[in-house]
Amino acid sequence: MNTTTDSIIVITIDGPSGSGKGTLSQLVAKRLSFHLLDSGALYRLVALSAVKQQANIHNEQAIAQIATGLDVKFDVQGEATKILLAGEDVTDAIRHETVGMNASLVAAYPAVRTALLQRQKDFAQAPGLIADGRDMGTVVFPQAPVKFFLTASAEARADRRFKQLQQKGASVDMVELINDIKARDERDTSRSVSPLKPAVDALVIDSTELTIEQVLNLMLARAHNSLGIKV
Ligand code: DC
Repeated sequence: MNTTTDSIIVITIDGPSGSGKGTLSQLVAKRLSFHLLDSGALYRLVALSAVKQQANIHNEQAIAQIATGLDVKFDVQGEATKILLAGEDVTDAIRHETVGMNASLVAAYPAVRTALLQRQKDFAQAPGLIADGRDMGTVVFPQAPVKFFLTASAEARADRRFKQLQQKGASVDMVELINDIKARDERDTSRSVSPLKPAVDALVIDSTELTIEQVLNLMLARAHNSLGIKV
């Protein structure tokens, strides 16, 4: 590991899908001018890559090899980040529900998690990093000085996802969406390696009844109080 990364400020934001952590991670990173790691995108890229290569999704070693060799580039262009897989723009493709379900499957493989570990740690660059995921505070950056665990009821999360998909013109079934979210939660929390759970030193925020702005203010206040940095 790069010895200098230990001195970089890392703020971890973990939680289930639809908890708002993606949006909040982007907002906090912007406010602090920190780098951003969207670790879920890495698992999604492994899943998409496996399908493209027609690999057997149930073969842990084959999928781990794909994770090791993942040719990915996060091309930051102002506010937007383009995600390139072997040179192909897959920014939108990795967001499909089926890719999310397959990502949850491959993320349960210990060999895949090991293969992606150093790649994630390498995102810790000056002046600091916002790390968004499931195990950022527990496994990837256990030394992070500020940790959040964001949650919300499955119904509230499904409702947010429903609105996002509707805006994109997709036709979605709310009951199916709630069931998918619950199935993914179950898999992410019950797996034996790096299960989705708050770090013991994380501030848990339930955003069911809160606006994005209210959560953002809570997070910035915590960062300010713990790190003494200007927010
Ligand atoms: O955050 P997301 O929906 O893009 O994540 C996709 C899947 O990847 C999710 O089902 C769980 C998995 N994941 C993980 O296991 N560990 C992470 N740090 C991030 C995501």
